[in-house]
Amino acid sequence: MAIERTLSIIKPDGVEKGVIGQVVARFEQAGLKPVAMRMAHLSRAEAEGFYAVHKARPFFSDLVKFMTSGPVVLMVLEGESAVAKNREIMGATDPAKAAAGTIRKDFASNIEKNTVHGSDSLENAKVEVGYFFREIELHPYEWKKA
Ligand code: CMP
Repeated sequence: MAIERTLSIIKPDGVEKGVIGQVVARFEQAGLKPVAMRMAHLSRAEAEGFYAVHKARPFFSDLVKFMTSGPVVLMVLEGESAVAKNREIMGATDPAKAAAGTIRKDFASNIEKNTVHGSDSLENAKVEVGYFFREIELHPYEWKKA
């Protein structure tokens, strides 16, 4: 196992439902440290660029519309196997298929309003972290838990 970094986004539905704190708590409780965090209201160009890989998909324009509909929380999570761990904590993309106890099972409305985004591979995590954060904006630290 290795220490990795991955990009997490709390989507507009998560912000509007008032679950920012609960989502971040789940990451911390699972050993994923937020080492960068900021709120943003994505422009259309920013959302289109971020989801460029989905450009040809039928849901692309709705996805961009939704992701620009309100503020989001952008985070970099650091920890052992952070990419896979984050995906496990999030649950399946479609909340109807997500396992009990996952973020999407507990908070998401549907496959579009699914509360969180997480990088799907280490390679994409590097690209996605770099899309929103400069190296100087990442702040690693050690936990000294009681
Ligand atoms: P996310 O992990 O952010 O990556 C792409 C997003 O597209 C995905 O979560 C979903 O919220 C959204 N999406 C909307 N419709 C679909 C669909 N039919 N299949 C996959 N993703 C979809």
